[in-house]
Amino acid sequence: MNDKLVDFYGRDFLVTPDVLIPRPETEMIVDAVLNLVGKPYLPGVKPGEAKLPQNLSILDVGTGSGCIAITLKLELPEAHVSASDFSEKALAVARKNAARLGAKVDFIRSDLMNDVSHDFDVVVANLPYVDEKWDWIDKEALAKEPEEALYADDGGLALIKRLISQVAGHSIKCLILESDPSQHDLVKEYAEREKFSLVETRGFIQVYSNNYAG
Ligand SMILES: C[S@@+](CC[C@H](N)C(=O)[O-])C[C@H]1O[C@@H](n2cnc3c(N)ncnc32)[C@H](O)[C@@H]1O
Repeated sequence: MNDKLVDFYGRDFLVTPDVLIPRPETEMIVDAVLNLVGKPYLPGVKPGEAKLPQNLSILDVGTGSGCIAITLKLELPEAHVSASDFSEKALAVARKNAARLGAKVDFIRSDLMNDVSHDFDVVVANLPYVDEKWDWIDKEALAKEPEEALYADDGGLALIKRLISQVAGHSIKCLILESDPSQHDLVKEYAEREKFSLVETRGFIQVYSNNYAG
């Protein structure tokens, strides 16, 4: 009834009240991964220097509709793509999208990376980062989306910080996180404490390399 199709990176994704509506700012996560393997992400843009092979392994944490993971698999067919969410209902929507769009993605139910191996080259995440206290958010507009896809404690950073700590000390080479630009300095400070270096910021996205992975 409330199901609809929403464009993400040029493809239509099924969106139900159980998942976040994919946002255009999140598409930059896909651009950042394509850049890592040296692929141009826009027509006319020169390919970057490949830092990782195209058959890299990627985990999308908090996959929701599956938009990031499925897009990455379709843009990088050689990549091994997994996606996790703690919401069974969200995973059901993501699985439907993968089947509709013909993308082979492994979906796993997990609280962040608790039940997932740490054996990935790249971890990407658009986790909930909205602080309920922010007075500039349109709570009425957001009421159509699941609360657990939007809000987080600790100024909106509780889940992002927990994920950074989970990834720290493992061989994951790159961590790509979305947060509100007003949170970027705090995320960077926290990530640096866990031995990550900020490589670049694009819109809402921050790309970190893992000093531990060498
Ligand atoms: C902001 S939505 C993003 C959805 C999708 N990745 C996108 O960009 O459109 C965050 C997702 O994280 C999931 N999530 C929230 N807390 C989680 C947790 N502790 N572990 C795993 N997933 C979680 C929610 O169910 C939701 O699907």
